[in-house]
Formats: sequence, structure tokens, C-alpha cells
Amino acid sequence: MIKNIPPMGWNTWNTFAENINEELILRSADTMIATGLKDAGYEYVVIDDCWALKERDGKGRLVPDPAKFPHGMKYVADYIHKLGLKFGMYSCAGLMTCAGYPSSFDREFLDAETFAEWGVDFLKYDYCFKPASVDGTTLYRRMGLALAKCGRDILFSACSWGADETHRWIGTTGANMWRSTGDIVDTWDSVKDLIKKQYDILPYGGMGCFNDMDMLIVGMHGKGHVGLKGCTEEEYRLHFAAWCLLGSPLMIGCDIRNMDEATQKILTNQTLIGIQQDARGLRPYIVKQWGNDDLPMIVRYLENGDIALGFFNLSEGPAGFWITADDLGVPTISGRTLTGEEAYTGQSLCSKNGVLTVDVRPHSCAVYRLRIVK
Ligand code: GLA
Repeated sequence: MIKNIPPMGWNTWNTFAENINEELILRSADTMIATGLKDAGYEYVVIDDCWALKERDGKGRLVPDPAKFPHGMKYVADYIHKLGLKFGMYSCAGLMTCAGYPSSFDREFLDAETFAEWGVDFLKYDYCFKPASVDGTTLYRRMGLALAKCGRDILFSACSWGADETHRWIGTTGANMWRSTGDIVDTWDSVKDLIKKQYDILPYGGMGCFNDMDMLIVGMHGKGHVGLKGCTEEEYRLHFAAWCLLGSPLMIGCDIRNMDEATQKILTNQTLIGIQQDARGLRPYIVKQWGNDDLPMIVRYLENGDIALGFFNLSEGPAGFWITADDLGVPTISGRTLTGEEAYTGQSLCSKNGVLTVDVRPHSCAVYRLRIVK
């Protein structure tokens, strides 16, 4: 079933890549409960690539690697479900998965049935090794149909990285979210690049088929598969806030069993999650300060008439942002003002003579849930 709000969860890839096993999955699921991530809204525990044996069984079915998953996938699913969480898995539309494991090409219906039997609730579907004979649109439609027929409600998470103009056709496939860009890595440049790549495709996201900006790197601090340089605390805060305001799914990518307090605080920020999970699921829009791509203000209208507004300084120098209430759809003549508190610091902001002004440090952001008051 299509959900009108972007999903939240945890995924193995960013930190663990092929180093996955049952113990890691079960302990991470436990951690989602113990650390309050579940209470904050995180729901899916997703096993990414590298879970299968390289060969299918005699009946042509995918087989979990017994060295990694000794009790099979149904066991993992049951454990996760008992915790009140949901279970996600991974496959690929091309001839192999990106890491060279068996894919679902030409076996879409059989694999969807297998996933349903195992109790899978979410399928991330990658795009590596696409055969030349079939176009990507058809491949994603096939899996969309197979999931619709498999007898279980499985959320379809397309991962074709925006290739082949994904935005033009993804809405026909039944996908609930679609990777709009290439893979994230744990650096400031990657965060900045992924945000800027959204500008032109925002009109294609939201409303039950969300632009997936890729898994979060918050709290990775340079460790794990996409670890690289790491980011500062302030950059991680900006990263998380941008994903929330832009309505991206939130799939945590760090090792949550060992996350520090600062990471936990960012990942459970209620104001930001409230914006990301807003029931109206509306698309955000961007206003660029001075027309500068490095100074986006991201705006999202919310169900109760509040306005989410984020000032993002992607540049290398300090920035003085300003925007009028009029620009945000609230004319001065209405006698209304805009007021709210910053999501991380609680600092208040109020429109003065119809103008909102905020100073923001480089690589930093300020995000408000503004109320319209008489
Ligand atoms: C692609 C995807 C990643 C991850 C890997 C797994 O690169 O974009 O998110 O799933 O494949 O091999």
C-alpha cells in the first residue's frame, strides 16, 4: 500500500556493506527500542546487499547465506516483528546485485512471493547490471506488479539513482520512494551535492512517491563502508535537517549500537521528524537567497497550517538570510505574523514588519516550524 509519509528506518549498507549477519540485525533491532529510535518513528530494519548465497536453490529460489543467517530470514522477520518493527530486504532489477549477488531479473514474481513468505515489509530494489534488452521502466514496473500480487503489503523502495530520467516514470511503478541521486559518502561535499541535486527534481517528489536522498551518514564519523572523512557535528545537523525538510525518507546508516549521545539527539529531533512525517506529505519548495545555489531556504507547508522554513548555509562564509512573510504566502495586510523556535537550539524567531532575518554560520542551518498568529 502506498504511504503518504516518507518511511523511516535503519539500513546496513553505509556502515557494514558485506559484513552483515543475524546477530548484527537482531542487536540493531533491539537498539532501536532501547535508544528510543522506535519511539521517535524509525520503523524499518533493512538488510541491504550481500545477504544471499551466490546460487539459487533447486526450485530457483533465493537462499540466505547460512553462515550469515543460520536461522533463515523468517526467523529474523519474526524477531523484528515481535519488537513492533518492520523488516526490509534488498534485491536488484539487473543481472546481478551491485555487489555481485543474485538479482531478481526475470524472477520478479517468484522472488516477491519468497519475500512475502519470509515476512518482508520493505524491498529496496537496485539497478546495477541492467540488461540491454529491457528498459528500466519495464523492470521497475515488473517488480511493482509482482509486489502487488505477492499477497503481502511490501513497501517498494526503488534505487535507480535518478538514472534514465527515473523521475519521469517512477510514479507509474508503485514505488513509494525512489533514489534520486548516486550514493552518499560520509563527507560534507557529498551532503552539499545531494542537496543541490534536489533543486530541479523537487516537483517530482512527495505525495506517496518520495525523493530518496540516500541513507543518512549522521554519526558515522568516518567509520564504516562509506565512512571517508566524516563530517562535523554541525554538518551532520544540517544534513539531517535538510533530509527532513526536503521530505526524504530517513534511513539511518551508522552503527546504532555504538552511537554517541549527540548522534542520538540529532536522529530523534522531534521538531524535524514532525516536519518530515507531516501527514499532509506536501512537496517542499526552495527560495535561493540572492539567487545563490549555496544559500537555499527550504519551505514546506504543514497539515495544521504551520510553515516549516529552513535557512541552509552551504557556502564557506557567513550568511545573512532574509525572507518576507509575503513571500511565504502571508501578506502583511492580513495582520498576521510568523513566529517559531529553532529546531536544535530552541531560539525564537518572529517576523518584524513582515520580514524574517537570520544569520547562519558556514556549513550550518537554522530551521523553524513557524506558526501564523494574529
Ligand atoms: C548501490 C546502492 C547502494 C547499496 C549498494 C549495494 O550502490 O545505491 O545504496 O545498496 O548498491 O551493493
